[in-house]
Amino acid sequence: MAGELEKKVWELLKEVRFPGMSRDIVSFGFVDRVAANGDEVAVDLVIATHERASAEAVQDEVRARLADALPGVAARVALAVRLPAAPAQQAVARDPELIPGVDKVIAVASGKGGVGKSTVAANLAVRLAQMGQRVGLLDADIFGPSMPMMFGIDRRPVVHGNRLQPFLEHGVKLMSLGFILEVDTPVIWRGPMVMKAIEQLLGDVDWGELDFMIIDLPPGTGDAQLTISQRVPLAGAVIVSTPQDIALIDARKGLAMFQKVNVPVLGIIENMSGFVCPHCGETTNIFKRDGAKQTAELLGCGFLGRIPLDPAIVEGGDAGEPIVVGQPDGPHAAAFGEVARAVMAQVAAHDRPRLTIS
Ligand SMILES: Nc1ncnc2c1ncn2[C@@H]1O[C@H](COP(=O)(O)OP(=O)(O)O)[C@@H](O)[C@H]1O
Ligand SMILES: [Mg+2]
Repeated sequence: MAGELEKKVWELLKEVRFPGMSRDIVSFGFVDRVAANGDEVAVDLVIATHERASAEAVQDEVRARLADALPGVAARVALAVRLPAAPAQQAVARDPELIPGVDKVIAVASGKGGVGKSTVAANLAVRLAQMGQRVGLLDADIFGPSMPMMFGIDRRPVVHGNRLQPFLEHGVKLMSLGFILEVDTPVIWRGPMVMKAIEQLLGDVDWGELDFMIIDLPPGTGDAQLTISQRVPLAGAVIVSTPQDIALIDARKGLAMFQKVNVPVLGIIENMSGFVCPHCGETTNIFKRDGAKQTAELLGCGFLGRIPLDPAIVEGGDAGEPIVVGQPDGPHAAAFGEVARAVMAQVAAHDRPRLTIS
């Protein structure tokens, strides 16, 4: 029956992913039409991307899957590749009403976990606030929210008139799923839940007027990244990496993902960059020096500065007092200050209407 066959084809298509993305091509809206007629199937793919080769790989995979799963059925898979809308147009399509009072939204991302993404997001947010900016920090790391600990808050947020009130701590408005979920309850997140949770953290929270919103994303290139890049007009993304090659390979993937969805990458921050011995004052490059800087140069994106490796940073994070609060005149605060200024400069540089001529 044609209806049954169509249904089966849709199910098969839901297993196909766009290269480098975690979401399937159906939920991306890349499948324009499926028609079945007796033992013939037609699938029309319309894919918006700059990467024709990736779109063709999707087409090949769809063909192979249909041939595999439906022997005896003749399948025709048509592909139309379109260029994605220019960023300016996309920004309009994204929902400005979700966070109407927020001027610049900056996503802090990393290719993998444990590189200090949350530490950098927290200290960057507080440093910007110390520099007189109105700052919000949204902990969107649904897999491991760490802002409740980094800011030393274990209360639940209050609700006023249907809206969640962010905490105000160290000069920063703060919201995290960690305030809402039960502690130690494992949550298994599926794509649509991720989207819903993130939309609520944006739209149902009383963020008010902000100059900057910093978003701590989960590591990698998954649904949270996509949701945010689609639902929020991002001023840009910054990528945190440690200097060694193995971390930088993942950082590159993150960079490619943001470029794919037309989010400007403001640059890379090198974290855990060299250890200054407290006894002799000599710097030891535990991982490697300048790995992230070289990668930034290689990939043609900005380099936003380096943060040294220091146990004081761990202690601050564990004690609910980011290092820029605990030691505002120390070398780390200075390093975060430089990073904050570089981020602001990059935001200003990217904040021009641009025409993309492809
Ligand atoms: N520059 C640094 N020096 C020393 N320890 C750091 C530094 N940056 C982060 N850390 C520590 O590394 C661990 C992982 O950092 P975190 O910010 O949670 O990483 P991520 O969010 O990328 O998983 C934490 O214990 C944190 O205190
Ligand atoms: Mg984290």
